[in-house]
Amino acid sequence: MHSKLTFKKIMSYNLLKGKRGIIFGALNEQSIAWKTAEKVVEEGAKITLTNTPIALRMGELSGLAEKLNCEIIPADATNVEDLETVFRKSMEILGGPIDFVLHSIGMSPNVRKKKTYDNLNYDFLDKTLDISAISFHKMLQTAKKMDAIADGGSVIALSYTAAQRTFFGYNDMADAKALLESIARSFGYIYGREGNVRINTISQSPTMTTAGSGVKGMDKLYDFANRMSPLGNASAEECADYCAVMFSDLTRKVTMQNLYHDGGFSSVGMSLRAMATYEKGLEEYMDEEGNIIYG
Ligand SMILES: NC(=O)c1ccc[n+]([C@@H]2O[C@H](COP(=O)([O-])OP(=O)(O)OC[C@H]3O[C@@H](n4cnc5c(N)ncnc54)[C@H](O)[C@@H]3O)[C@@H](O)[C@H]2O)c1
Repeated sequence: MHSKLTFKKIMSYNLLKGKRGIIFGALNEQSIAWKTAEKVVEEGAKITLTNTPIALRMGELSGLAEKLNCEIIPADATNVEDLETVFRKSMEILGGPIDFVLHSIGMSPNVRKKKTYDNLNYDFLDKTLDISAISFHKMLQTAKKMDAIADGGSVIALSYTAAQRTFFGYNDMADAKALLESIARSFGYIYGREGNVRINTISQSPTMTTAGSGVKGMDKLYDFANRMSPLGNASAEECADYCAVMFSDLTRKVTMQNLYHDGGFSSVGMSLRAMATYEKGLEEYMDEEGNIIYG
């Protein structure tokens, strides 16, 4: 029987050997960024970790930094000076320009304060958009001005399919994700042409994380998406695997895309497994002969 260590060794392909990366947004072990940090180091990369001072005070990130032997640089991703510090220090610590960046950041004060979409607080909306989308632009603009991303570099931000289709309760985060995906395209054009840097978003399945559990009815949404997806929901670990491939040289010509990583969810209209949850109630829709009345 293989030990966990042997199994991990076999599963590493050295895809990111010698690459330097920055991971934004690891909060705790559930975080997609946390799993991605572990994965990219396993694949041979050297990284720095960054999160807000408040997140760092929660104390869990230092354990990851110790385990992966990497440094933490505190930064609010909405603050351009902080972002300059992250890129400058990361280049110093890692010894050169950055090959890949993960933006794994999202927060909506409207969702937190249970403001509905038709009763938004506009100061909160500004914050939602700044933290969850414009921070991505700030990150890219800062990196480009500092020439901090290497030729052939790869940048990923995490998105959700509520950017395309309406999901009950996703609220102003849907607008933030639509903006995030648009920034990936608009900046991807410029940074691709001028710096050979590719920029994409990965649209991930519902995932049980701190940010995820803020979504209204998350457990039911998770179950619905899982039933709809022929491959089932993608986990945080699987998202980390996809990020590693997107950071590698195997995807050199993929840019300005929103890449679905959702077990097939986004292409399914209705699945039998999702439909089956309604079976017990079908009598309501039958006529005297037992035929279902479609309406
Ligand atoms: N969990 C899901 O269901 C799901 C699905 C699709 C996409 N996503 C996206 O994945 C990303 C990561 O979220 P997660 O699910 O791993 O949850 P998470 O709560 O672990 O991560 C969110 C991170 O954003 C950070 N953050 C908040 N404000 C910040 C700021 N001003 N500056 C820097 N960092 C800040 C938090 O500290 C935290 O580390 C988010 O963009 C989220 O929208 C999540």
